[in-house]
Amino acid sequence: GLRPRPDYPQRFPMNLLVVGSGGREHALAWRLLQSDRVRKVYVAPGNAGTALEPGLENVPLTDIGELITFVREHDVAFTLVGPEAPLAAGIVDRFREAGLAIFGPTQAAAQLESSKDFAKAFMKRHGIPTADYESFTDAEAAHAYVAKKGAPIVIKADGLAAGKGVVVAQTKEEALEALDQIMGGVFGAAGSRVVIEEFLVGEEVSLLAFCDGKTALPLPSAQDHKAVFDGDTGPNTGGMGAYSPAPIVPDAELEKMADIAIRPILAEMARQGHPFTGILYAGLMMTKDGPKVLEYNVRFGDPECEPLLMRLESDLLEIMDACIDGRLDEVKLSIRPESALGVVIAAEGYPGSYPKGMEIKGIDAVDALPDTKVFQAGTKREGSRTLSSGGRVLCVTALGKGLAEAQKRAYEAVAKIDMEKSQHRSDIGAKGLRRL
Ligand code: AMP
Ligand code: GLY
Repeated sequence: GLRPRPDYPQRFPMNLLVVGSGGREHALAWRLLQSDRVRKVYVAPGNAGTALEPGLENVPLTDIGELITFVREHDVAFTLVGPEAPLAAGIVDRFREAGLAIFGPTQAAAQLESSKDFAKAFMKRHGIPTADYESFTDAEAAHAYVAKKGAPIVIKADGLAAGKGVVVAQTKEEALEALDQIMGGVFGAAGSRVVIEEFLVGEEVSLLAFCDGKTALPLPSAQDHKAVFDGDTGPNTGGMGAYSPAPIVPDAELEKMADIAIRPILAEMARQGHPFTGILYAGLMMTKDGPKVLEYNVRFGDPECEPLLMRLESDLLEIMDACIDGRLDEVKLSIRPESALGVVIAAEGYPGSYPKGMEIKGIDAVDALPDTKVFQAGTKREGSRTLSSGGRVLCVTALGKGLAEAQKRAYEAVAKIDMEKSQHRSDIGAKGLRRL
């Protein structure tokens, strides 16, 4: 169990702060609340879901300095950061300089996500399998490279672009157009450098691990669904649904995958003076030549987080506390044997433009079902109503004995949700079921 820490034994039970406002942060706050060591979880800025959950409280702050002041004034034992943007902006460094405990990587370690060029060069130097690539700041040289390599080919903005900075080009023309757009500034400075890489064929899987700088503890595999429409068609989104485990990486393979894609990174980052703490997420492509890393994220994936946390039986607070203290080697993860599957309900038109302010009904009916939970994302309260306020609105998540039952239970729950001008995929989990 968790030992009271000598530096704040008076702080049990604890207040915690979760930074972010998506389904991921709702799930993190909800799961932390189940720890008997937790008094209250603040969520900054949160959403309608975190506003209504007993024990959670939204705080309308995003500025790092203001968050530091809040944490000091509200006796927050530690903070955990959901999204990548504050990590890339150095929130962990600022909190640590202020003497405050925080779960997540430093700005230097977050470069694994905030610069694709950094991540690719790192992988190449340290023998981590990944697609062949070159990176460019000069448009003419980039054009010449595409002309030489031909299509299909993958063009990526170097910096953060909210999941939209990657174009898998089927033709040379598409590739050149993507280059012109990205280097022309549609993502601002994030596109002043591009990574151009070999097109890989295979099934994708997400591997997430808790890290304390030295030790990595992998979570079970999960599979995201990035394309907006059924059959993996249409433009890429932040993720339209996810499930765990993904049969392509069964639990028996987890340690091997972590040895390939996570532990070498951890060892090398530590050696370079930037130990990685927080969640390291490897997006893998399972190719016929073995797993290859598509990208690293330095935080929980959304929506992978929602089904993963439904399966997590261990006390999340205890794990995160061990990560912060550098004693993750003392922790063992306990995972429920069931499968979990989450379906994202999004606004019609997303990831393009979409209407806001749609009323959502049926959330309470779903939450009343056993082992079923609506994690809210783009929602806000207005009087007694819950309205949509973003592209991804809800992640309806259920546990079941096996993937088929989790899928059935999740879609039964989705049917109880009533929101005009919404869309969701009807085939979350289908690839996994085919493999089974
Ligand atoms: P990333 O943000 O780098 O993970 O890329 C977003 C999505 O683009 C991935 O989830 C893949 O579906 C696709 N993708 C990225 N890199 C490649 C690649 N080298 N070959 C094929 N598809 C890719
Ligand atoms: N679901 C993928 C991501 O969070 O980046």
